[in-house]
Amino acid sequence: MEDFISDWVARHGADRDRLLPLLHAIQEEAGHIDPSLVPVLAEALNLSRADIHGVITFYHDFRHEPPARHVVKLCRAESCQARGGAAVEEAATRLLGVPMGEKRGDGRVSIEPVYCLGLCAIGPNALIDGRPVARIDTRMIEQLAVEVNA
Ligand code: FES
Repeated sequence: MEDFISDWVARHGADRDRLLPLLHAIQEEAGHIDPSLVPVLAEALNLSRADIHGVITFYHDFRHEPPARHVVKLCRAESCQARGGAAVEEAATRLLGVPMGEKRGDGRVSIEPVYCLGLCAIGPNALIDGRPVARIDTRMIEQLAVEVNA
């Protein structure tokens, strides 16, 4: 990953405003941002380790460990809650066997909160492995559980 960072900086520059795009590129490449990369990033962009750590921990989309095989993001914002989001979340945590905000022990699935996907009129909504799913309901969660546990 250190070579990836060096190559990326050589192509895109080392200004401090390059940090966010570089973090996204690392996550795209590796699936997560390993904490051991903090000093490498600090050196590459001439920033402090605290700067890097602060940005990585501020943005919840940055992962610190490899993602689950299936990532289920459920919208918890107001409109989706008014359309049954809480019932979907209850079904998801029960049927997938993992609490909100956690990765299942076998690494097959995680459930994460999101706060509005811009699809409020057709909620409740989810992102499943990056794919938007509108009007998600318990039946869809049951189908997902079959896939995850297969
Ligand atoms: S509130 Fe859920 S998509 Fe906007």
